[in-house]
Amino acid sequence: MTDDADKPVFHFTPQRNWMNDPNGLVYLDGVYHLFFQYNPDGNDWGNMSWGHATSTDLLSWAEQSLALPYTQDEQIFSGSIVVDHDNTTGFGQDGVVPLVAIYTRVTSNAVQAQALAFSLDRGMTWQKYHANPVLDRNSSAFRDPKVFRAADRHGRERWVMVAVEAEQRMLLVYSSHDLIMWAYESTFGPFGDEGVVWECPDLFALNLNGDPSHPRWVLVLSTNKVPDHDSAAFSFTGHFDGHVFVADDAETWRPLDYGRDFYAAVSFANTPDACRIILGWANNWQYAADAPTYPWRGAMTLPRQLELTETGITQNLPAVTEEALPAEPSQTYQADHLEGPVIFDAGRHYRFRLTCTLDDAAEVSVGLLSGAGMPAAVLHYAAGTHTLSFERTRSGRNEFHPRFAEVSSVRLPSSSSPSPSSSPQSLSQSLSHRLELDIFVDGCIIEVFANRGADTLTMQAFSAPDAREIVLSADGRAPIRARVELYDLTQITV
Ligand code: FRU
Repeated sequence: MTDDADKPVFHFTPQRNWMNDPNGLVYLDGVYHLFFQYNPDGNDWGNMSWGHATSTDLLSWAEQSLALPYTQDEQIFSGSIVVDHDNTTGFGQDGVVPLVAIYTRVTSNAVQAQALAFSLDRGMTWQKYHANPVLDRNSSAFRDPKVFRAADRHGRERWVMVAVEAEQRMLLVYSSHDLIMWAYESTFGPFGDEGVVWECPDLFALNLNGDPSHPRWVLVLSTNKVPDHDSAAFSFTGHFDGHVFVADDAETWRPLDYGRDFYAAVSFANTPDACRIILGWANNWQYAADAPTYPWRGAMTLPRQLELTETGITQNLPAVTEEALPAEPSQTYQADHLEGPVIFDAGRHYRFRLTCTLDDAAEVSVGLLSGAGMPAAVLHYAAGTHTLSFERTRSGRNEFHPRFAEVSSVRLPSSSSPSPSSSPQSLSQSLSHRLELDIFVDGCIIEVFANRGADTLTMQAFSAPDAREIVLSADGRAPIRARVELYDLTQITV
């Protein structure tokens, strides 16, 4: 239990101080390592360094000592880590496989260039490479390198880096045999509106329907300073031949998440069974600096395993995380004609699974973190338009920033599928929609996985400390069959 009502228990937050992007996500010998943008000296952005946390299930995290501290003349911006199995760098000694961090160093002249550090003790202590930087364009916005193995056109594997020229809205691709000497390969972009910045790219293959003979490449990109909603993460599918990325449709920016608080998401390196797991910073640059938490500020999202189907990317919890969650609900509820409101005393850390079959005219809402009849956040689904919206305008503590209290919404294409005909009730024949919401509430973080991860929505909401109710209601105009499973996660990581 935490005595800070907003503090998540199964999403990572540092004990104290400011945190932003996940960095250097890597799996090694049964342990998931999360490094992150961190200010060791305060809870505002600055003095950028890499913090470190570890987990075996991506749910319960142990904060470790600072990995890469800032110095007088160097800040450590975002980047990635690789396991250099073949010791291509020569950093390994006595057969120890080095972990190599490729990060953006920002020097006092404001130049952003790519630099290396390595660890010979599984990420616990780090040494900087003596001849940094290894890739310098004399630019003030060249950052966020993500490095991985990929074959060239002749089938020869080597390292590939994607990084951004943030203000020019360009993705740059480089290759290397040793992580030290880099050769330019190609540029993707510029696209989109001027003034937007590109950040934290990632590029990886996903097998269509899990079939290894149908790999598709996915570019993940975060963009900041977008006029309407500031920070957001997107994905593009396309083709990568080891040198050049070509998007299927560079005009279509598909949001990775439809909430306002999902940014800088990147994937883990070296995961078992080559599964692709991402996590992001559950925040938005628009108001991150004003978020009313102390002495910690910033949380990561839950891990999400990505799968690719014809209809797009799905995001669900990895098996290792699912297995660490309780299998048995602490409360259940079922109704053939949902009327409302139905109130659950849920606490502040839980999983709420709602399955509905409903008519076109139906509307259902879920009030979360509700106290004294006032929910801090309301999810609302309108079956007629398939629209799921999230509003936190009534949250008691939303005044810290003028743009915090806006409504987010997504049209759920997959919710239009007919309901299964297995139900014996004749009523259900006319119920044309099926809606599945898997909602995680953890202090101030709310994550919604809709229709088995076809769409996700991540939002923060700051509520009164005694706001512990869920209020499920229907508008009464049309029938709704509903089933609820509630899992108490208060003790999950204790
Ligand atoms: C993204 C970002 C990165 C940068 C880091 C600095 O949130 O702006 O582009 O490396 O944060 O903390």
